[in-house]
Amino acid sequence: MSGRLRLDASGAAEARIGAEGLSAPERERALAAAGQALAAVLHLRDEGRLGFWSLPADRASIEATIALGEEIRARFEDVVVLGIGGSSLGARAVVSALGGGLRNLWPRQRRGGPRLFFPDNSDPATFRELLSFLSPESTCFLAITKSGTTAETLSQLAIARAWLGDLHRDRIVAVTDPEKGSLRAIVAQEGWRSLPVPPAVGGRFSVLTAVGLLPVAAAGLDARGLCEGADLMRRRCEEADPARNPAALLAAVLQALDRRGKRIHVLFSYADALRDLGAWYVQLWAESLGKAESVGPTPLAAVGATDQHSLLQLLMEGPRDKVVIFVTVGDRGEAVSIPAWHSEDPALGYLAGKSLAELIDAEAAGTQAALEAAGRPTLTLHLPRIDAHSIGEFLFLWEAATAIAGMLYGVDPFDQPGVELSKRITQGLLGRKGYEEHAARLRARPAPDPAWILD
Ligand code: PA5
Repeated sequence: MSGRLRLDASGAAEARIGAEGLSAPERERALAAAGQALAAVLHLRDEGRLGFWSLPADRASIEATIALGEEIRARFEDVVVLGIGGSSLGARAVVSALGGGLRNLWPRQRRGGPRLFFPDNSDPATFRELLSFLSPESTCFLAITKSGTTAETLSQLAIARAWLGDLHRDRIVAVTDPEKGSLRAIVAQEGWRSLPVPPAVGGRFSVLTAVGLLPVAAAGLDARGLCEGADLMRRRCEEADPARNPAALLAAVLQALDRRGKRIHVLFSYADALRDLGAWYVQLWAESLGKAESVGPTPLAAVGATDQHSLLQLLMEGPRDKVVIFVTVGDRGEAVSIPAWHSEDPALGYLAGKSLAELIDAEAAGTQAALEAAGRPTLTLHLPRIDAHSIGEFLFLWEAATAIAGMLYGVDPFDQPGVELSKRITQGLLGRKGYEEHAARLRARPAPDPAWILD
């Protein structure tokens, strides 16, 4: 086990960045509100209405998932995860954090398991090209959809089923609701193996169910360590004093800054391996909190140092409507040294003998100091290293913070009514029975004014 994830919110304090930061009384007020929100969240947990909270301690489900993942790992060369949104982003984030962005390029022995693909979108170009690289004999599909009705996932599954032909029975594994939805019924008819998604756990909170853990275990990555890290964070997030509770502090500071007009929350991760974790955070924060017209932070994800050459100008000198959450890393593993080369050149001399880790860490520190000097609020989440334990901590921290933030913003973080209408219109357009009126709604729109169109 490694050290613990550290949350440092001092970069958001008035004492550090001046008038744009939170004063001591504001901090106290924000913490008091977060304390109440935390109590309400823990009450939901006690009533059994907060399904995600107990997942990291659910040993039986974790071990059953790992056992099936191990079987898949041993047997297949390639695994394709068919899922979208919360049924894809978590697993993808963990696999790329722990396996690295180039994992699929390693020989099997070094990567420890099959190649994993997350086509996710229903873009035909990706899916067509992906299948052309794979062989039905050695490929397993994990069909992951909590509702069991998602059009993108079921369409890809239908294509995969046809592509596998008679081989399909032991090459498709489903993860879906234990009782409801079309996929659950299909599983029984097709004779596929399956694992349940607990009904009380929503898609974007499901990374620690089979939704996330099965792909992680199938890849040969440390699903157990992930849950241990998450469980450690769960215990930290049960601390009643909000000043000592990382999820309460994180939610309190972000919401208090939001009230000061800093409504864009940028997660700036200083490691390529954390890029997909940024996408997971964006979905969690946006789909959970973006619900009332007067509130709802806008999450963005960036990767340092790359985005210093892209977003940083805006963060430094653009509108004062942002808070930047740095994700930094302690131990970055084996050093990559920068050799002495043209040392007489001032642009190179100072780099000689340093490592790439020193460079990226200095860039994170320099960027944060520059933002502070410009009076821009920052927070830091420091991971001792990128391993299963710290990623598990990170995941649970944001899930718990989202639940608390939902209370602070006065919205239900567990539903997503705003995405339903577009789904219904799409299904109506494609001729689904009972959805005709939604398609009619689209057709009833006024004809576009040609003055706005150029061909
Ligand atoms: O967080 C959510 O609930 C959504 O993003 C869902 O995960 C996404 O829409 C996919 O849904 P399903 O798992 O039912 O296919």
